[in-house]
Amino acid sequence: MRLRSVELEIADVGAAADFLERVWGLVAAGTSGATRFFRGTGDHPYILSLAKASAPAVASITFSGSPEEVDTVRRRNGSPRLIRFNVPGSGEGFEVRGPEAQNYRFISETEKTTPLGDRDKPIQLTHAVVNATDVEASERFAVEKLGFQVSDRTGHMRFLRCNRKHHAVAYAHSSLASLNHIAFEMQSLDAVMRGMARLREAGFEPVWGPGRHGPGNNVFGYFIAPYGGIVEYTAEVSEVGDDYRVGTPEDWKWPPGRIDHWGLSKKDTAKTAAAEAVLRFKNLP
Ligand SMILES: [Fe+2]
Repeated sequence: MRLRSVELEIADVGAAADFLERVWGLVAAGTSGATRFFRGTGDHPYILSLAKASAPAVASITFSGSPEEVDTVRRRNGSPRLIRFNVPGSGEGFEVRGPEAQNYRFISETEKTTPLGDRDKPIQLTHAVVNATDVEASERFAVEKLGFQVSDRTGHMRFLRCNRKHHAVAYAHSSLASLNHIAFEMQSLDAVMRGMARLREAGFEPVWGPGRHGPGNNVFGYFIAPYGGIVEYTAEVSEVGDDYRVGTPEDWKWPPGRIDHWGLSKKDTAKTAAAEAVLRFKNLP
């Protein structure tokens, strides 16, 4: 199973598309009605979609896998009805609702797109971090209903995987259910740094990074997109298997004043908290 895409609703699709294509490095991948699709350089037909709406929201977080993998998750959830999604790559799948209105979509991978050659553009999404008021409940749902495995638990977050990559989804404790951020996988540490330079040249300063995370050991640079959500360039995320010992909060304590392995980064917590609050789940009661 792989994280494939995130479907967003925002007010100014044109401005967001301009940022995503011209600055962030995604590639236009077609339209369906008023919805615009964007791909990375990897083999997913698209990795992000933007639909116009009066209030910004996360419509869904989408995973894809073989028909057998998708069917296994579907049966865990009582076999919800199959949907043929009108998106690039097509594919049949289903949706399930998490404990805090997170809408997870699973789609059978019926076709892969030819990868592109640009070494400095995002390849694909590699994780989505979700703010949850009850991370225990979200973790339990991801294990029992989505079939994911826990990789690490920190005092603040739960990291879960659906393949060998350390995490595809993580839950961060918050007073507000929303999208914390989405991370775009880059080819290398150099590609992350060149991407950060591209953002700086376009007038965007990082709100956190560059740095190297604890859980997952990936390098990172975080920015606030003009539409309000947080986007991350990342690379070198660790791969783990069944022999990986699930880390505990005790394993992931930083020395005073440090919030990543390098000790260089400072996080603009006020700005990031405000940006995290923008993208709430569409069906949140
Ligand atoms: Fe991240």
